[in-house]
Amino acid sequence: MDARGRTLVVLMIAIGGPAAWCQNLGSLKNVSVPKAPNLERYVRDQDALIALGKALFWDMQVGSDGRVACATCHFHAGADHRVQNQLFNPLDSFRPNYTLTPKDFPFHMLSNVEDNRSTLLRDTVQAAGSAGVFRRMFSDLGADGISDDGFDAGDAPAFSVGGINVRQVTGRNTPTAINAVFYFRNFWDGRASNIFTGLTPFGDSDPRPNVLAESNGQLTAERVRLENSSLASQAVGPPMSSVEMSYDGRTWPKLGKRILALRPLALQKVAPDDSVLGPFAGREGRGLLPEHTYLGFVQAAFQPQYWRSSELVAAAPASGSRDFTQAEFNFALFFGLAIQAYEATLVSDDSRFDRFSEGDGGALTVLEQAGLRVFQGSGRCTFCHVGPEFSGASFTSVLQRGAVQPARNGTVADTGFFRTGVRPIAADSGLDARDDFGKPFSVAAVQNAGASLGIRGAFKTPTLRNVEFTGPFFHNGGQATLEQVVEFYNRGGDYIDDGNLGRGIRRLNLSSGDRAALVAFMKSLSDDRVRFERAPFDHPELCVPAGHMEILPNVLQPQSADPRFRLSAADKWAAVPVVGRRGNAAPLQTFDELLIGAGADGSRAHTMTEACTVP
Ligand code: HEC
Ligand code: HEC
Repeated sequence: MDARGRTLVVLMIAIGGPAAWCQNLGSLKNVSVPKAPNLERYVRDQDALIALGKALFWDMQVGSDGRVACATCHFHAGADHRVQNQLFNPLDSFRPNYTLTPKDFPFHMLSNVEDNRSTLLRDTVQAAGSAGVFRRMFSDLGADGISDDGFDAGDAPAFSVGGINVRQVTGRNTPTAINAVFYFRNFWDGRASNIFTGLTPFGDSDPRPNVLAESNGQLTAERVRLENSSLASQAVGPPMSSVEMSYDGRTWPKLGKRILALRPLALQKVAPDDSVLGPFAGREGRGLLPEHTYLGFVQAAFQPQYWRSSELVAAAPASGSRDFTQAEFNFALFFGLAIQAYEATLVSDDSRFDRFSEGDGGALTVLEQAGLRVFQGSGRCTFCHVGPEFSGASFTSVLQRGAVQPARNGTVADTGFFRTGVRPIAADSGLDARDDFGKPFSVAAVQNAGASLGIRGAFKTPTLRNVEFTGPFFHNGGQATLEQVVEFYNRGGDYIDDGNLGRGIRRLNLSSGDRAALVAFMKSLSDDRVRFERAPFDHPELCVPAGHMEILPNVLQPQSADPRFRLSAADKWAAVPVVGRRGNAAPLQTFDELLIGAGADGSRAHTMTEACTVP
């Protein structure tokens, strides 16, 4: 900034009050939620679409095992909140079913936290991810209707102890789904395209006509191409992932056949005053009213030409037998658009920081205001965590600067994606990878053939809103507390020798006071509606697998006498209680509190100690 610019900023701070201080940040209330143009081609009732999306997001029946929902890994401020069997463990560096403790963090431990060249006391390739399904093969839809039929697929490497399998764990930490609608693209590596093509996350890489449209009694295969729809692209990933939600080998039409016939959330309690599902909530306590099926919601939400045909079709042109309805065939389209519509309501724009930005100078304490200045100044955080979204990977940034921007040393990279040196590039190359169609995830790589790219080991800059509740942090979940994160930045990152570091990643020499202020500031980014799960963050009951039973230390208890599942360990279950629009009396537990078991006396919500009531 030149001298005149600096004077201007000083003047604005002097005369403009809080609003002027927050110039490159600001209130999220001023940012409009991105909308997909031409959505009306598919959707006829937005309210029905949101209700469908909320039900699908929280419904345990969507997982092959009739247990794993999207929410299983996104129930706590939009992220995960479990400590047992959460390690992705490629080289068996930890025992499967391990329970994390405060001592395990940070994963990369130095003798001097201020010096990334000091003696390494510990390092590990593990990541703190999220437990999904057992490794199983899909045979067919289950006779019970609420789960798929399958069988244990033999020993799951890195996810078994003594021949008994634990649930598999994702290779990366689960980010929050709250405010994710503001990202131009989603996932840590950006692979969920802003263009939704109806079936896979990869946008224009997927050239196929993925849906069937009816016209004059004829069904025609049609290509879907919706812009501003990264969350729809994202949502069609997990249901077919054999780590997250699916037995290996199920297909979208099969999932559609099972789900469309079901009563939404049949196993789970839904609050009569749920902000979206309340009017449909069953009176006998669980699920929606018996007259509702998923097919009914699909018919209410979507244009008839995508479901009204009575012709039966084959799952794929090559596979002969015509077993599926048009609605079942098009289920991925419905699923993606409905989940996206629900997630677009998960906007937390009323933190104390938002109020401060809107001019309420008393909304932040003196310490938090000092933290804000460090965040924008000597901390260099706003090089990347910029805008009301606290991420340069936002729609706002991409509209201003384009999807590709100059990076360091004459390279170009995707806007808002940076390498900060959390792990060596070889451990996870992030943005520098290719999709199922062989195309790069990186827009910079696609659009700038021949240019020098700064994408190796780069990850999407995550929002910092509600970060108080979404630990552990970074794509590998290797830091438990915000203090540890600030120490990481203060020493200029961990793995710096691989290069391609983003601007601002260098030793900061922040005083302990500055560091404490930064942490305090980040905690002012929490929205009380998230803290207490008030509307729109209220939700149905959920039962989550939270580790496995052991007969003796390191000896897992097998699940059941069921011969199909002889290799599966018995689950421990934890309840995430139902909550209506007015929210909980107690605030959410933080990850540091979870690690030490604080708040089980009722002073915190989601302590993972309540027993499940799901049948
Ligand atoms: C087994 C745990 C698990 C399940 C189940 C799961 N997710 Fe995720 N989710 C993750 C992980 C891990 C990531 C990050 C993966 C990555 O970026 O490579 C993620 C990423 C996301 C993101 C991107 C956020 C961002 O900042 O990029 C969204 C949105 C999301 N999930 C929504 C969903 C939806 C919708 C479903 C159900 C269809 C779902 N998740 C099911 C674990 C899970
Ligand atoms: C060069 C860009 C850049 C700068 C500068 C930067 N960050 Fe980050 N930040 C990122 C990226 C990218 C990630 C994800 C990195 C990963 O997981 O590998 C991240 C992750 C985080 C996280 C973890 C969030 C989560 O959900 O896991 C926090 C907290 C954070 N940054 C705070 C800060 C603070 C405080 C500063 C200033 C001291 C700062 N960042 C400076 C780009 C940056």
